[in-house]
Amino acid sequence: MDQLHKYRYCRVRRSLHWLSALVIIWAIVTGFSLAFFSLSPAVERWLGHFNVTLTLLFIPFFLLRLTLACIQKKPETLELSRRQLWLAACGHWLIYATVLTVLVSGVCMMERPVSVFALAQLDPLFKAGEVTRAFSVAHHYSCALLALLVLGHIAAVIVHQRRGIRLMQKML
Ligand code: HEM
Ligand code: HEM
Repeated sequence: MDQLHKYRYCRVRRSLHWLSALVIIWAIVTGFSLAFFSLSPAVERWLGHFNVTLTLLFIPFFLLRLTLACIQKKPETLELSRRQLWLAACGHWLIYATVLTVLVSGVCMMERPVSVFALAQLDPLFKAGEVTRAFSVAHHYSCALLALLVLGHIAAVIVHQRRGIRLMQKML
């Protein structure tokens, strides 16, 4: 590992982090807008279809990101104590586990076939009924947990940055 990678995530992990941030923030904001506000039927249809396609395409990128997090060491942050580093690592693994739950529950709750930009078609894994409804409840609560974790994550980065601990530079 060269000197730069000791203190900064590699290019692939930085790109995957910002891609995940965009997709996840978009899916959370528009997903909850669909669930809680009344939008025009055309917007609802378009968003519903676009989000399912976008998040399905996101799955391989997320799996690559998870694999890299498992096999590569985190870059060092010399300003943080061992306890703070341990807490940050636990928070990051909780985010990964929650994203995985959101993706699995999303796929398992599908009740209709979905076409991915007319390239491929994914059929529902379960017949519409109790099982798909249970996954839909799991999707709802895991999305709410993910929204809280992401807010906490962004707040923690801002607080550390203001104290002079340059976390952002590891991800830019
Ligand atoms: C715009 C908002 C965001 C900012 C400013 C931000 C910033 C950062 C920074 C600076 C780090 C490096 C922290 C360190 O290693 O000590 C980091 C790591 C991380 N971020 Fe974010 N992030 C954002 C959004 C997100 C979102 C939406 C997710 C949800 C998936 C996320 C998940 C993670 C994870 C899991 C890590 C740990 C990476 C690893 O070591 O495997 N971040 N983020
Ligand atoms: C990045 C991962 C994902 C995020 C952040 C996300 C976020 C959300 C949110 C916030 C909602 C509204 C929840 C509620 O009912 O209160 C939602 C609904 C939904 N999600 Fe996801 N989702 C993701 C992945 C998926 C995947 C992979 C699928 C299926 C392939 C999926 C299918 C659905 C469906 C069918 C709904 C119901 C939409 C409607 O009410 O019309 N999601 N999602």
